[in-house]
Amino acid sequence: MKEKKIICGFSKLSKEQKLQLIAEHFENPDESVNELKSFLHSDQNKQQLFDDFSENTITNFYFPYGIAPNFIIDGKVYHVPMVIEESSVVAAASKSAKFWSDRGGFHTEVISTTKIGQVHFIWKGNTDKLKTLMPDLKDRLLDRTRYITHNMRNRGGGILDIELIDKSNEIQDYFQLKVSFETVDSMGANFINTCLEEFTSELKDFFMDSPFFTGEERNCEVIMAILSNYTPDCLVKSSIECPVSALGTFDENMTAEKFAWKFEKAVQIAKVDTNRATTHNKGIFNGIDAVALATGNDFRAIEACGHTYAAKDGKYRSLTDINLENGMFRYSLTVPLSLGTVGGLTALHPIAKKSLELLGNPGAEELMRIAATVGLANNFGAIKSLVTKGIQKGHMKMHLLNILNQFEATDPEKEQAKLFFEDEKVSYNSVETFLKNMREPAIAKKAMLANKE
Ligand code: MEV
Repeated sequence: MKEKKIICGFSKLSKEQKLQLIAEHFENPDESVNELKSFLHSDQNKQQLFDDFSENTITNFYFPYGIAPNFIIDGKVYHVPMVIEESSVVAAASKSAKFWSDRGGFHTEVISTTKIGQVHFIWKGNTDKLKTLMPDLKDRLLDRTRYITHNMRNRGGGILDIELIDKSNEIQDYFQLKVSFETVDSMGANFINTCLEEFTSELKDFFMDSPFFTGEERNCEVIMAILSNYTPDCLVKSSIECPVSALGTFDENMTAEKFAWKFEKAVQIAKVDTNRATTHNKGIFNGIDAVALATGNDFRAIEACGHTYAAKDGKYRSLTDINLENGMFRYSLTVPLSLGTVGGLTALHPIAKKSLELLGNPGAEELMRIAATVGLANNFGAIKSLVTKGIQKGHMKMHLLNILNQFEATDPEKEQAKLFFEDEKVSYNSVETFLKNMREPAIAKKAMLANKE
């Protein structure tokens, strides 16, 4: 194996050269090149498309693409595509979808769809004067970006408002232009950032050529212009409800009432305990991220926003709420989701396009409803397992194939293992022992007899 050294000019190399160079860092370079190449697409045009999404690509990294069928959302049936590597997430979503399809389905509400961008600048001057001149600055900013916002305005979106935020009490001479946008069916990152960068130039011109500013006031130092991924006003709610008695009975004859009570406690704990809230919300994002990935959306932006929102009152809490009044089980998730169904990767990634087609080519609002619902479904499934049989039983069952693959089990071995572990506890050790016994029955028998003696 080659000693790791700084590589100069890596980006300038051809893909083949990059691959060969990187392969030298593996124990068996030739085998590694073949292994990495085996994940390239056989259709050169398709491969080129994937290469062009990013930089320095040498192969593809596969994730499974699964379907959680039979979600009823606002009376409409969806079979939802999910991209995720973690066993049991798709199964949990599917199970919850089925459970709630018998109980009226999921109900959603898009509360708001506003996105935010900021121009951060340092300016020394008379703040009152700047505030008075704000309407003039606003007109100039809107005029300057009209050519950029033209198409978006035609689609019903554009710039909604521009506010001056005085932050000089936190950082000397620091101000912001806080800009709200409606980006309709696009996530809007490029649109927002393009507008903001144009604002930067106009802002500088404004201080320079307005007759009301003199001396130092004519200088404005723009620090940066960028969208904010915190979009608390791009909010969606998904909820489920049914009479407590309609929840059914659970493992070991747990009654619906007991289940609802334990479920409520679990949610209350996630409301007050940050350690639990983080895991609780992680379970929600298992579903949301998987839909975001399948539809070519930016799951990092969505996660960052969701976690900030979870801490909006100064303490990180569960994103879900429960209400058990009047014999009803009411459970909901309220989450900011800035999603797009046009532009960006949604238009380029062939499978993202297929995902959107499978969902009936929804607009951004409909996708917000779907993604929030899958998040709620995954969370419901997790809490349901946690307060009944525990999470590991189901999770390890789903993980069985991964463990079998680690031991390079053959197809017949897998089939037998599936049968055997239907009623047995799955663990790494138990699977290893099962395979050993299958592969070396005589030795296993001898060992068993020796143990008995
Ligand atoms: C695992 O990916 C997610 C859970 O831990 C979520 C939860 O605990 O609520 C099961």
